[in-house]
This record gives sequence, structure tokens and C-alpha cells, in this order.
Amino acid sequence: MAEDGSITSVADVPDESTFLFTVRDLDEDEQKEAILVKLDEEAVTDGGSESAAITGWLNYCQHFTHIKLDKGSGAPMRDGELVCANHGAYFESDSGRCTYGPCEGAYLTELDVVVEDGTVYLTDDDYEFVDTGPMETDDLDLSSKSNYEF
Ligand code: FES
Repeated sequence: MAEDGSITSVADVPDESTFLFTVRDLDEDEQKEAILVKLDEEAVTDGGSESAAITGWLNYCQHFTHIKLDKGSGAPMRDGELVCANHGAYFESDSGRCTYGPCEGAYLTELDVVVEDGTVYLTDDDYEFVDTGPMETDDLDLSSKSNYEF
């Protein structure tokens, strides 16, 4: 585990998919999965700083919040938007807003990240970097009402 909050290098974040990592939610004292997304070149070169190249989100759809966008091999993306494979919701990779699908108008939960010298760092006071990749144990809470499918 990196003590300085470094997650990975920008080069390791795929162009048309996501980089999966695990954080600890310090408020709730539990591990959660998160993803990094590389924005398209235009968004970065068009007045953006190096840090504008990468965004970070919790890895959970806003339709059913136990559903992961990146199931371990990268979330699908279409035209620069993240796609939930379960019911086809689209999320803007720069704002996290759902533009289409059952949770249209909802936002993914953002994590503060910055890029320095080609490395992505987690700078969010509410989360602590744990490791790259998925959570080792899935502590899914099936009692949560928001998770019921009908
Ligand atoms: S769970 Fe993601 S769109 Fe339904």
C-alpha cells in the first residue's frame, strides 16, 4: 500500500475503459471499489491541466448502488461515457452525470484525484487508498433497501 496516496501511473489508465482500485471510506470505515477514467485528449489539451486528464469515481452504478461499473476487467465506454452493463445507463466521465438510462440525472460519487509527473494520487479527505484491483472480500450489505431489484 502506497503511503503517499499514489494510485498508479497515468499510462496504466486505459483509454477506453477504467482502472480499478480499492479505497477505505473513512466515514463508514469500510472498503469500497473505485475507478479512474482517462478523459479524451481534447478535454485535456483544451485549457485543461495535467490533473484534468483523469477523474475518479466510486465503482457503483446509481441505479442499483451495489452494481459495479467495472466488474474486474474494465468498465465499458461509448463515446467517452461510462456504460453500466446491467441496464445500459450512461455516465459522463468528466462530471459523473447519468445522461441516459434508469438513473438519468443522478451523479456518480466523485473522488478527488490529482496528477503529478505522470502519477495519479488520491487526495480525497474522505477516502484512503488501499490497493489496486478489486476488494479482496465482498462485504455486500444485502439488507440495504436501495439494493432491492423489482
Ligand atoms: S444497475 Fe446500472 S443501469 Fe441498472
